[in-house]
Amino acid sequence: ALVNSNEMFKKAYEGGYAVGAFNVNNMEIIQGIVAAARQENAPVILQVSAGARKYASPIYLKKLVEAAIEETGLDIVLHLDHGEDFEICKACIDDGFSSVMIDGSRFSLDENIALTKRVVDYARDRGVSVEAELGKLAGIEDAVNVSAKDATYTDPDEAVEFVERTGVDSLAIAIGTSHGAYKFSGDPSLDFARLETISSKLKGFPLVLHGSSSVPQEFIDLNNKYGGKIPGAQGVPEHMLNRASKMGVCKINIDTDLRLAMTASIRRTFTENPGEFDPRKYLSPARDAIRDMVAHKMKNVLGCSGKK
Ligand code: G3H
Ligand code: 13P
Ligand code: NA
Ligand code: ZN
Repeated sequence: ALVNSNEMFKKAYEGGYAVGAFNVNNMEIIQGIVAAARQENAPVILQVSAGARKYASPIYLKKLVEAAIEETGLDIVLHLDHGEDFEICKACIDDGFSSVMIDGSRFSLDENIALTKRVVDYARDRGVSVEAELGKLAGIEDAVNVSAKDATYTDPDEAVEFVERTGVDSLAIAIGTSHGAYKFSGDPSLDFARLETISSKLKGFPLVLHGSSSVPQEFIDLNNKYGGKIPGAQGVPEHMLNRASKMGVCKINIDTDLRLAMTASIRRTFTENPGEFDPRKYLSPARDAIRDMVAHKMKNVLGCSGKK
């Protein structure tokens, strides 16, 4: 069934694992992720960004997710990723999404609270769960020293105040992850001390990590071998995500790794079979590559295999 994330996060919190939230843009991506969830008996969140909604046009992804639920019988959360204002959250709630993110992280604490509260009030009556974000995800070169970290990473006391004043269901925090394929210029590191402080102040409350692709070297190498050019890419090491999943983090967002797996596979087919021009011939292996990558995350990184 289509479910909100509340029960999923309660189980994930208590079980010390995280649910993967994977960004979806088309049918093959949805099918690859859902095949992995079925294979692993894992809970799953499919999330749609504003860009995805625009690319596919609003109704298509919703209908494809409904088809996946109907075909598999799985419990799936359909979530809006990075809703930037009340209007897009309302539109997705009205369209039948079961969960939304309101991302007011660019605003002051008070403005972020007011905006988030407005979305929570609208979502609550409709059974929709709400994620918010506090702190700024650092990009490469950002937050290298302590004062930069204090300026951008999530402040633990503000997190407590934020959750109390908004009544939000989950909170994305900034501890050193960032979006995309270039997360660290030097050695990767996350601020686990900060995560520990936040989760001990917010006992029982589900935290979210964005920017959590691992950018596996295998996919970078395959892309580069078959004509791509993605030098110097680096993600969050899998063992760090696994550690976070045991520290109150209940949702881990992954998009970049889907893109890398899919594109590596398509590049390979194009290179190895230059005479092939039937889209099914390159999209089937790409879909399988997504399935295998997602199944690996569920089993070895998130710890959610068998937790359906
Ligand atoms: O947070 C960003 C996600 O990877 C979605 O990316 O806005 O290009 O769809 P997008
Ligand atoms: P990645 O770019 O690390 O996959 O992060 C995705 C994300 O946070 C989507 O909201
Ligand atoms: Na967890
Ligand atoms: Zn994100």
